[in-house]
Amino acid sequence: MSKVFEPIAIGGQTLKNRFVRSATWEGMCDKEGRVTDRLIDCYRTLAQGGAGLLITGYGVVRPDGIQLPGSMRVYEDAANPGLKALTDTAHAGGAKIFCQLVHVGNQASSKFIGTQPIAPSAIQDGTSPELPREMSPGEISEVVVAFASAAARCKACGFDGVQLHGAHGYLINHVAIKLTAADNLEGGFVLEEAVSAARRLEELGIDAIEVSSGTAAAGKMGPIRMKLDEPSKQGYNVESARVVKAAVGVPVITVGGIRTLALAEEILASGAADALSLSRPLIREPNLVNLWADDPSHSATCISCNGCFKPGLKEGGIRCILDPVSA
Ligand SMILES: Cc1cc2nc3c(=O)[nH]c(=O)nc-3n(C[C@H](O)[C@H](O)[C@H](O)COP(=O)(O)O)c2cc1C
Ligand code: SF4
Repeated sequence: MSKVFEPIAIGGQTLKNRFVRSATWEGMCDKEGRVTDRLIDCYRTLAQGGAGLLITGYGVVRPDGIQLPGSMRVYEDAANPGLKALTDTAHAGGAKIFCQLVHVGNQASSKFIGTQPIAPSAIQDGTSPELPREMSPGEISEVVVAFASAAARCKACGFDGVQLHGAHGYLINHVAIKLTAADNLEGGFVLEEAVSAARRLEELGIDAIEVSSGTAAAGKMGPIRMKLDEPSKQGYNVESARVVKAAVGVPVITVGGIRTLALAEEILASGAADALSLSRPLIREPNLVNLWADDPSHSATCISCNGCFKPGLKEGGIRCILDPVSA
């Protein structure tokens, strides 16, 4: 059996294969941020499509941490029935499910959250819609507590783990993190710093690290790169994952531009990562992992155009805007 289809353990959970559905904001929650039938259907299809682990689109831990409409909110008891239905659906389809937790900080807008966005410093960078307010040390602790209570809620609702998005963190069992290898901005966060952060996170008990890179301000070097029409442009975070993996013992997951089974196999065989995360290819072909199991020569038909965002903003949910894949 190809290694990509072998099980892997993350934080005491055994995934049936090495494929992860990378966290993908679906924009399918209702105005209160509750899980809808449409979101449940989306996860049923994803779970049946073969990936061993589904990571939810970012779930917000506090009202002032919301960026996009239709985001899942993980801070009120009223959210619990929907979250439980989501985990039941993933489990019924044979997948594990982690909830990605986020507070978007300076990327929020006061028009949306009704208050000035918060950040560690009052600096408006290329990702901030407006000048954020500097947090006090007490407020930083409050955000940590918000992450912890959201994680506890996720556990109570049947999630198999949580993934912390970015640098905000609070560490408990069954926690993975999606870490930026570099923000790809001049004078910004670089790979050596990501390696130090990864080492420290491992000391603190993190169970897995997903390596991404870039921010919305990094243009062509952002986290969701377009026009991956040549093999050399694909797997664009693999080399950073390799460097992080050499520094830690916990499983490392690479995300970004994985479009063929051959590339997935090569990544594992070369020891650059332990698992493979996919976002856009599973929007277009949620059953891609099963397709690869049946036909290893199949290439993902996603053309990395990022057209799926607009329906998420305008039509109550992301979808691929290309013609459906013919059977
Ligand atoms: C519509 C859409 C929504 C996304 N939402 C999230 C998110 O909620 N959290 C996150 O960490 N990354 C998010 N991403 C980034 C993906 O997880 C992934 O890192 C990126 O798309 C590169 O992988 P890919 O080439 O397989 O698409 C999103 C990407 C897309 C296309
Ligand atoms: S719109 Fe379709 S083809 Fe374009 S990035 Fe999204 S899933 Fe891929």
